[in-house]
Amino acid sequence: MSVVMKKPNTANEEVAVTRDTFGSKFGIVAAAAGSAVGLGNVWRFPYIVGENGGGAFILIYLACILVVGMAAMLCEFLIGRRTGTNAVQAFKKLAPNTPWFLTGWMGIITSVLILSFYSGVAGWCIHYMIASLMGGFTGLDAGGINQTFGAFITGYEPIFYQMIILFITAGVVFFGVKKGIERVSKILMPLLVVLLVLLGVNSLMLPNAVAGFEFLFKPDWSGVTPESILIALGHSFFTLSVGMGVMMTYGSYIKKSDNLGTSVVSITAADTSIALLAGIVIFPAVFSFGLEAAEGPGLVFVTLPHIFNNMPFGQLLGGVFFFLLTIAAITSTISLLEVNVAYLQDTFNWKRSKSTIAVISVIVVTSIICSLSNTEVLGHIKLFGLNFFDFADKVTNDYLMPIGGLFIVLFTGWYMKKEDIVDELTVEGQKPWYVEPFLFIVKFVAPVLIAIVFLNTIGLVG
Ligand code: PHE
Repeated sequence: MSVVMKKPNTANEEVAVTRDTFGSKFGIVAAAAGSAVGLGNVWRFPYIVGENGGGAFILIYLACILVVGMAAMLCEFLIGRRTGTNAVQAFKKLAPNTPWFLTGWMGIITSVLILSFYSGVAGWCIHYMIASLMGGFTGLDAGGINQTFGAFITGYEPIFYQMIILFITAGVVFFGVKKGIERVSKILMPLLVVLLVLLGVNSLMLPNAVAGFEFLFKPDWSGVTPESILIALGHSFFTLSVGMGVMMTYGSYIKKSDNLGTSVVSITAADTSIALLAGIVIFPAVFSFGLEAAEGPGLVFVTLPHIFNNMPFGQLLGGVFFFLLTIAAITSTISLLEVNVAYLQDTFNWKRSKSTIAVISVIVVTSIICSLSNTEVLGHIKLFGLNFFDFADKVTNDYLMPIGGLFIVLFTGWYMKKEDIVDELTVEGQKPWYVEPFLFIVKFVAPVLIAIVFLNTIGLVG
C-alpha cells in the first residue's frame, strides 16, 4: 500500500511524495525480523560465544537485549514513524539546527562498513551451499574441513559470491520496499527455523552432546572480561539491527495504526530464539567432534559440514540449510542498503533506482577491499592490528553501534517531547502500561549502562 505524504523540499515548497508502507502488521514484523535474523544469529553469535567462554557471556548478552536493545529498537521505530523519513532527515526534522543529525550520518557510515564484510560472509554461504550439494565435504575429517575453509577465504572466489549477494540485494531494493522485502521474509524465514530445530535435535543426540549443552547454559564467570561485556553489548545491537538507523528507516514505513511495542517484542523474541537455537546446533557438535569452541569467525563453517557429514541426507540438508542462511543474510543486507537508498531518495529527490545504483557502486568497492584483505593482496595492511575485514566487523560492533545506540536513546529520552513519544506509542486511544518504564530506561538505565561498559573497557572504572 502506498500513502501520499506532504513533505517540504529544500526550497520549502510542498511536494507530494509517495512513500511505501508495509501491507500488513505481519509485513513489517516479517521485514524487520528479516533484518534482525541473519548471519548475526547463526554465524556471529556462536563464534563470539565460543571465544568468550559460553554460558556467562550468553546471560550478559540476554541482559543487554532485554534492557538496552529492545528499548533502542522502540526508539528507532518511533522516531522513524513520527518523522516518516530516513535516519539523517529524521533527526533534522525533530531537532532542527542541532548536531543530532550526525547520529544519522554515523548510521550511514556504519551500514556501509557492515555491508562490506557482511556481504562477504553471505557469499561464503553460497559457496557452502554449492559445496554441500556437490558432496564437497564428504569424507573430510576435521583437519580437511578446516583446510578447505582456510584455502577458500584466502582466495579470490569469495569476491565472486559477494558480488552475487550485492547484485541480488540491489535488485530487491531497486524494486521497492513492499514488493521485495516483505515477500522474501514471509516465506523462507519460517523454513529456516524448522531446519534449525531439526538440526538442534540432531546435535543433542550426538555423543558427548552434554558437554556442549553445559558450555552454553552453565555460566562460568571466570572467563568474563570487561571486553567480553562490550562484545555482548555490541552484539545485542548488531543482532537486533539497531544503533545505525535500519529500524528507524523501517519505522518510517510502519502504518500509524500498528502497535510498535508488540512489534518490538515479536521481533526480539524471534531473533533471540534463533540465536539460541544456533548455539544448540553448534556447541554439542563442537564438543562431540572434538573441535575448537574458540575457533573464531570460521566456527560455523567448520562445524556445520561435520554435522551434515554425520547425518542422514546430510548433503541435501546442508545445501538447503546454506541456501536458507543465504536468504536470511540477504534480508539483512537489504535493510542495510535501504538505509542509504532512503537517505538519497528523501534528500535529493532521486528515484529509488538511481539511489540504489549510486550506493551499490560505492559498496562494491568497499566490499572488494574487505574480501581482498583476507588474501595476500591486501592482507598485509593492518588497522590496529586487524585486516580491513576484521576491522570493519570490530569497529562497527564494539564501537559504532553502541555509540549510535547511546545517542538514539539519549535523543529519545532527553530531547524528544514526551507528548510525541506517548502519542506514537498510544494504540487505539490507550496509553500502554510500558510507556513510563520505557521512558525511565531510555533516560537513565540504558545510557548509564552503555557508558559504564565503555568506561570499564578502557579501564576507567571497575
Ligand atoms: N541483524 C543482522 C544479523 O543479525 C545484521 C544487521 C546489523 C542488519 C545491522 C542490519 C543492521 O545478521
